[in-house]
Amino acid sequence: TAGNLPESSCKPLSGLKDAIGGDNVKVIVADDYEIMSREAAKIVAAEIRKKPDSVFALPTGGTPLGLYAGLIRMHKEEGLDFSRVSTFNLDEYIGLPDGHESSYSFYMYDRFFNHVNVSRDKIHIPRGLAKDPEEEAATYEWAIKRAGGIDFAVLGIGRNGHIGFNEPKTEFGSLTRPIYLAKRTIEANARFFDGDPDSVPRQAISMGIRTIMNARKVILLASGPEKSRAINQTIHGPVTEMVPSSVLQLHPDCTFFLGRDAA
Ligand code: PGA
Repeated sequence: TAGNLPESSCKPLSGLKDAIGGDNVKVIVADDYEIMSREAAKIVAAEIRKKPDSVFALPTGGTPLGLYAGLIRMHKEEGLDFSRVSTFNLDEYIGLPDGHESSYSFYMYDRFFNHVNVSRDKIHIPRGLAKDPEEEAATYEWAIKRAGGIDFAVLGIGRNGHIGFNEPKTEFGSLTRPIYLAKRTIEANARFFDGDPDSVPRQAISMGIRTIMNARKVILLASGPEKSRAINQTIHGPVTEMVPSSVLQLHPDCTFFLGRDAA
């Protein structure tokens, strides 16, 4: 695991306090949320410059807001070009009305897509209003394959170690499918629904663990002390379906970008 890797393989990035890791898993600790977001944005931008038609998996939630703001700035000030990039969101709630302000579709356009030149026909978000969510999920998984697979997955993490909406006990072999949210996730996400847990949908469509693990490169962002337990279990604990994010210890190219408070 990352915790057992020799320090001699450290490769600190500028402006960051520490980096540990070996060939596959790297852990980078930033002093604060701004630095974490800025450094993550640089890594995403480097990927786009290296491969302009990269296929990304993208998260929502509070954590990636700084990353998206950084990418928008790089688009406006440095001409970072998203025109050939494809995106697949990790998940979407089932059943929210079209245009609902707490839907992940609304979030993505409002916080990111409307401010950069991503081609609209290269944006993919599971349709939470699809008549048949099973079929929608299978079609989504197929669309990822047809796009050539995910080059670069950006992840957040839940307090219970979920990635995407893959809650504890999700099978590592899972693909995109409809899921039920864990109680803790409903409580944590109530803040996006005027603080009312009863307004949070109970179901979502989420990429599976295997879908995420098939990505060629993964970065996971976490900040805030409420994430530190999950991060500790993810990096230093056993690889177990009880902590879905722990599977990333097995990914061939995974970097954790952590705020010091989450680390
Ligand atoms: P957050 O959500 O960034 O809003 O904390 C992360 C997640 O639940 O995956």
